[in-house]
Amino acid sequence: MFHKISVIGAGNVGATLAQRLAEKELAKFVALVDIVEGVPQGKALDMLEAGPVYGYDTRVMGSNSYDVIRNSDLVVITAGLPRKPGMSRDDLLDANTKIMTDVCQNIRREAPNATVIVVSNPLDAMCHVALQVTGFPHQRVFGMAGVLDTARFRTFIAEELDVSVEQVQAFVLGGHGDTMVPLVHYTTVAGIPLSKLLDAASIERIVDRTRKGGAEIVQYLKTGSAFYAPSASVTEMVESIVKDKKKILPCSVYLTGEYGINGLYVGVPVKLGKNGIEKVMEIELSDAERKQLNVSVEDVRQNVEKLKTLVTA
Ligand code: APR
Repeated sequence: MFHKISVIGAGNVGATLAQRLAEKELAKFVALVDIVEGVPQGKALDMLEAGPVYGYDTRVMGSNSYDVIRNSDLVVITAGLPRKPGMSRDDLLDANTKIMTDVCQNIRREAPNATVIVVSNPLDAMCHVALQVTGFPHQRVFGMAGVLDTARFRTFIAEELDVSVEQVQAFVLGGHGDTMVPLVHYTTVAGIPLSKLLDAASIERIVDRTRKGGAEIVQYLKTGSAFYAPSASVTEMVESIVKDKKKILPCSVYLTGEYGINGLYVGVPVKLGKNGIEKVMEIELSDAERKQLNVSVEDVRQNVEKLKTLVTA
């Protein structure tokens, strides 16, 4: 169990995440921070009061001040604006860069040894801001995207085949967006390659739905974006770190030559343990997958170019 995990942003993703972390007792203290007065305090107290019923002793604390995150072992950033219908994740770039810069200056001051997981969108670009502003080693600053994209892919495959989601193993690479690359090639159901179970057209349909998985939820909700599956995905990453499980999970990480990519955040499979990113797993890609990955990487590169004028560390 960690001593303290902090969640910045007490909105849909942040509050649901804090609840999941508390219920799993992944830290003695879970701190929730938001700029809206009363919201982190009220939600934290409500979660604390669920402890006796649900059977956890996690001390959930809420505040508008960053004192509460002091010396956190891990900080998850969910602060920022979510998408509205018709918006792409990239439309959030300007507003969320400003928020991310402010949040990361506070993390740098209060929790200099923390591992930082970024959730705010556009994810890969926000990871760059976090890396630059905190100045932390890149092994300790990474983003949640692939676990969520993979979870969506697994959900749709399981639904199509009417089998347990637990037996669907899949991987999604690339940026968190419409250019993500679901690796059909490495996808199996109880060890059976997906291509032996579904025809190419069905697989393509599922891949397309996965790419647009976030937008599908936004269309329904209208006033915000997904939060149950995103918070569950962060929880899996946090658990692998806290318990040093060394799970191999797709995360948005800063590449230094792996996959022929240098100095960019891209979603690839990594080993997650107590030291954060412990290893980037380089897997063989088909020519088509490599091409798709390059399109996705270009997308991230363009956002990072735009950032150069926005970030003031
Ligand atoms: N510091 C702290 N909290 C902030 C700040 C800030 N500078 N700016 C905004 N917030 C808070 C808001 O007050 C709000 O409570 O961030 C919270 C965001 O919550 P929601 O609007 O409910 O958004 P959510 O669905 O949780 O998504 C958050 O995660 O998945 C991504 O695209 C999504 O970027 C978005 C982020």
